[in-house]
Amino acid sequence: MRLISARSINGQLRLPGDKSISHRAALIAALARGSSEISNFSTAQDCASTLSCLRSLGVSIEHKDNRIVFTGGQGLVAPRAPLDCGNSGSTLRILTGVLAGHDLTAELVGDESLSSRPMRRIIEPLELMGARIESMGGKAPLTVRGTGTPTPITYKLPVASAQVKSAILFAGLNAEGRTSVLETTQSRDHTERLFNGFGVPVTTHSDLSVTLDGPLHFTGGPITIPGDVSSAAYFVAAAMLLSGSQLTIEGVGLNPTRAAFLSVLSSWGADISTTDEEVERNEPHGTIHVRGGISRNATASERTLGQSMIPSLIDELPLLAVVGSQIDGGIRIRDAGELRLKESDRLATTAANLRAMGVEVEEFPDGLSVSGPAQLRGALLDSHGDHRIAMAFSVAALLAKGESELSGAECVGVSFPEFFPLLDSLLRR
Ligand code: S3P
Repeated sequence: MRLISARSINGQLRLPGDKSISHRAALIAALARGSSEISNFSTAQDCASTLSCLRSLGVSIEHKDNRIVFTGGQGLVAPRAPLDCGNSGSTLRILTGVLAGHDLTAELVGDESLSSRPMRRIIEPLELMGARIESMGGKAPLTVRGTGTPTPITYKLPVASAQVKSAILFAGLNAEGRTSVLETTQSRDHTERLFNGFGVPVTTHSDLSVTLDGPLHFTGGPITIPGDVSSAAYFVAAAMLLSGSQLTIEGVGLNPTRAAFLSVLSSWGADISTTDEEVERNEPHGTIHVRGGISRNATASERTLGQSMIPSLIDELPLLAVVGSQIDGGIRIRDAGELRLKESDRLATTAANLRAMGVEVEEFPDGLSVSGPAQLRGALLDSHGDHRIAMAFSVAALLAKGESELSGAECVGVSFPEFFPLLDSLLRR
C-alpha cells in the first residue's frame, strides 16, 4: 500500500468495540446461565475467530442488527473439527483455559504466526489443574483433554500475561475451592472486571494476587463494549504529531491497565484530555480529545519506559517507538522482551522499519533506544504480517518526506479492519 504525508488529522469519531473485552464478553456469554446481548462487539478478525470457535463448541450465537445474541445455558460440546484460532493469541490461550475446565477433548490450531508463539506458559498451570495438553514442542496445535473437576491451584505467573492469568481464572470457574493467580506486575484486568460484572466474584489483593472461589456461574445479560483504546492509539499519536490536528474520539475504553499510553504521550508534551467518563460492567470509558503539537520537552526519566510500566503499554510500544523518534532526546524502552513473542518479533520489526525511515535505533534483548527528533524519510516498510506494526508505521509514513510503500498492509484486519478508510477520511493533506 502507498502511503503519503499529511498535514493534520481532524474530526470526531467512535470506534468498534475493544478486542480484549470482546473476547472475554463472548466467552462469558457462552458459559452464562441465561441469554446475553453484546453491543459494539469488536470487528476484529481475532474476535470473529473466538465466535467461530464457540459455535463449533455448540454455542448458539446470532447477529441481530449490531448486537450479538447468545442463548446461553447450553453448555459446551466436543467439536467435530479442530478449532481455528487464526492469528489470535487471546482466543487460543484463554479458550484453552475454558476447555481445561470442561470434560471434553478439542484440538486448537492457529496460523503460522500463532503456531510459532509460546504455549508452555498456559500448558503448565492448566496441567497442574488436571487438564492434559499435547503440543508441538510447547507450541500450537494443542490437543486439550479437559476435566469437569479441575483442581484449584495457587500459581505465580513467570511473566506478566493477561492471557495466561485469564486462562487460569476461566479454568478455575469449575474448580471446587480457591484458584489464586499471583502476578508480579499487573497486566490488563478485563477478566477480573467482567467476571465481577457478570456475577462471579473475583478479588484482586494488595499483593496483586487474584482469587476466585469455585464453582461459580455467570448470569447472562446485556453489555456494550467500549471503543478499542489500542485502535484509538494510532489516531491519538497521529494527532499529536501533525501539528494542525484536532481530534475527538468518543466512547473509548479508559481502563488504566490499557490507557497508560495517554499519560506517556502527555508526559512527552502531547495536549490530551479525557471527558465524559462513565462505567459499564466495571469498565471505564469516555471521550479523548487531542490537539496537535508537542508543547514541552520531556525529561530523561519521562523518556524511559521500563519495569512495571511495560504490561500496561505492551501493545502500544511499537507506536511509542515511532512517536519517540519525534521527541527531543529520543526514547528508551527496556524490560520488554515479551515484545519478541508477539504476532512478530516487535523489537526487531520496529527497529528495522524505523531504520528504513532513517532513524538511529539501538536494539537490546529487551528493548530499543530510539534517537530523536528525526526527519523520517519515505521508505519500503514491511508489516511482517503484524497488524500493530502495520498501523504504527502507517502513522510514521504520515510524517515522512516522500512516499512510503507498506507491504502486507491488509493484516490490520486482525484487530482493526476499518483502519485505512477511517484514517483516510480524517486526514488533511
Ligand atoms: C491480551 C493480552 C496481551 C496483549 C494481547 C491481548 C489480552 O498479551 O499483548 O494483544 O487480551 O489478554 P499477554 O497477555 O500475553 O501479555
